[in-house]
Amino acid sequence: MKILESAPSRYDKGIRILTLGRLDDAYNRLTSYIKSGQKVLDLGCGTGTLTIKAAQKSAKVKGIDVNWQMLEIARKRTIKANLTENIELYEMGVAELGSEESESYDVVMSGLCFSELTENELVYTLKEVRRILKPDGLLLIADEVRPTSIFKKVLSWLIRFPLLIITYLITQTTSSAVNNLPTRVEEAGLLIESIRLNKMGNFIELVGRKA
Ligand SMILES: C[S@@+](CC[C@H](N)C(=O)[O-])C[C@H]1O[C@@H](n2cnc3c(N)ncnc32)[C@H](O)[C@@H]1O
Repeated sequence: MKILESAPSRYDKGIRILTLGRLDDAYNRLTSYIKSGQKVLDLGCGTGTLTIKAAQKSAKVKGIDVNWQMLEIARKRTIKANLTENIELYEMGVAELGSEESESYDVVMSGLCFSELTENELVYTLKEVRRILKPDGLLLIADEVRPTSIFKKVLSWLIRFPLLIITYLITQTTSSAVNNLPTRVEEAGLLIESIRLNKMGNFIELVGRKA
């Protein structure tokens, strides 16, 4: 999705078109786990779509992102939605999660950010998520993943390839669907509560729990 982030003002429209409007449904399902008053951390909050949905459930949400332009849009949307009491936004990368207090969040969530992390960041982030979640706390992820069946792998790659080329030409960066996300989550010491995959097997909604 990096191609859209190179023009943050067009990100929200672009992502809706690219995901055929299905991202909203996925985010609604994920945020249905959030309860009023809970403390929530949104990793790679971008323009704040997931952050705002969680705050609308009367949760106290901290959104972090490395892209200040995406955060500027999130700030404007927060004000427009009258949610400044519930939302804090910080220019901060997942590499800085070490500054968060242990067992301080009820929920850590992330939409389309894990697929933009390096391998080292991904491993570190999941380890830190386990540390900062309260016992029984939830990890909610919606993201692109690599399908497990060969046929779906090839099909998914054929669909993604032209987009990856265009993305690279414009941004000189790329994102890669996450491999074995449920296993990685378990390896970090979290339990898998539920998994929902789309028909192509390339988009996951995952709910994990800290035992
Ligand atoms: C595809 S966007 C998704 C944004 C938002 N979560 C949404 O669903 O609309 C991915 C976001 O992750 C952010 N990101 C990428 N790497 C990051 C990192 N290492 N730490 C924090 N945020 C990061 C990007 O800046 C971008 O805003």
